[in-house]
Amino acid sequence: MNVMIIGSGGREYSIGRALKEDVNVDKLYFAPGNGATESLGENVGIEDYHALATFAKEKNIEFTIVGPEGPLVDGVVDIFKAKGLAIFGPSKQAAQLEGSKVYMKNFLAKYNIPTAAYIETDQIDRAFKFIDTLSTPIVVKADGLCAGKGVIIAASHDEAKKAVSEMLSGKSFGDAGLKVIIEEFLDGYELSMFAICDGDDFVLLQAAQDHKRLLDGDQGPNTGGMGAYAPTPLVNEEIYEKVKARVIRPTLEGMKKEGAPFEGVLFIGIMVVKGEPITLEFNVRFGDPECEILMPLLKSSVFDLFYKAATSQLDTLKVEFYDKYAVGIVMASKEYPYASSTPAEIVVDEIHHQELLKNSHISYAGVTRTDGVLYATGGRVLVCVGLGESIQEARDRAYLLCGQVHFAGKKLRTDIAYQALRA
Ligand code: AMP
Ligand code: GLY
Repeated sequence: MNVMIIGSGGREYSIGRALKEDVNVDKLYFAPGNGATESLGENVGIEDYHALATFAKEKNIEFTIVGPEGPLVDGVVDIFKAKGLAIFGPSKQAAQLEGSKVYMKNFLAKYNIPTAAYIETDQIDRAFKFIDTLSTPIVVKADGLCAGKGVIIAASHDEAKKAVSEMLSGKSFGDAGLKVIIEEFLDGYELSMFAICDGDDFVLLQAAQDHKRLLDGDQGPNTGGMGAYAPTPLVNEEIYEKVKARVIRPTLEGMKKEGAPFEGVLFIGIMVVKGEPITLEFNVRFGDPECEILMPLLKSSVFDLFYKAATSQLDTLKVEFYDKYAVGIVMASKEYPYASSTPAEIVVDEIHHQELLKNSHISYAGVTRTDGVLYATGGRVLVCVGLGESIQEARDRAYLLCGQVHFAGKKLRTDIAYQALRA
């Protein structure tokens, strides 16, 4: 079967890398892909989703997987389905779980799914009144998609009020901030959980931890994620069961009742507070870099998992994981996350160490190929992934691989997985 992957990041590269090995997959297409996905398949430069669906028909692409939230919120799944094409991802309506934080919070409240106490409002006086009832820090969120920047953790009441004023006046996030969520701060440890859903059934992958801040020790500005590992020992069976029973099942039931059955990847941002998992947020896609470490941990076919989810057959699937750990270290460019950097050639040393060769690889993200040479051109350039029998071993391999990768201005965190190793 020919398969297309929509997106251009390390997440999409890692899905392509897994599918490339699969006996069911013939040719891979990436729309638009990056400079490295060219070596896994063919990059397609069609931006309009109607035109992309027509292209899929012409090229006999029988299955499409959507990586990022943008195309989902824009309704790419509805467009492909209307043309009779199989595609993995939520409908435009179901993608509102990520597209609108107000929709998501109201959904959680309606179906009694544990989440931080909040109000949603477009009224400044109501916002200020609620802020006065909270103790600090106070969390302020813009309603719409803000590329991961729409959440402010305010240290004082004044700072929270300033953030709200700027959002509601359209100053900070345009239309995406005209409604806000104000919520209590949850103090605990954060997890990324991913449920592959077919509307009725789901498969829960191993729990991961992301590292959102730019610098070691969780300092510096928020990023898309600087590294991740899985499975995390911070989660036990009890927490998995609570997440299934209290979050995933009621969400799938609730979305059916809302007339928007959820098919696709439900990314549950969890804060564990005193042993209880509380939902911070939903995303409707894989996390990046979490996807890059979860794909190589799947022993069962990645193609089967996504295809069966897209065709309502998850009840027939038994998924197996390798009894291993994966650690992924993001290598970012010099100015990330503030600005774009000058393109820099990427050089990867030849690796002679057999154990390292077998148990590590690179997932490419912000890269461009010119005359056969790979350049770092994006913010997050690539992810070095290490696999091992323990988190320490996987992490050592990931960092050894980082040492073999060179480009001007490269930067990375040196403490990925510290919470697991400290535990
Ligand atoms: P979100 O986009 O909702 O995931 O928020 C981005 C980040 O802000 C999360 O990954 C958390 O680290 C943090 N965050 C969001 N909401 C809360 C909350 N209520 N309490 C503590 N931290 C939060
Ligand atoms: N790594 C977190 C995200 O993809 O949103």
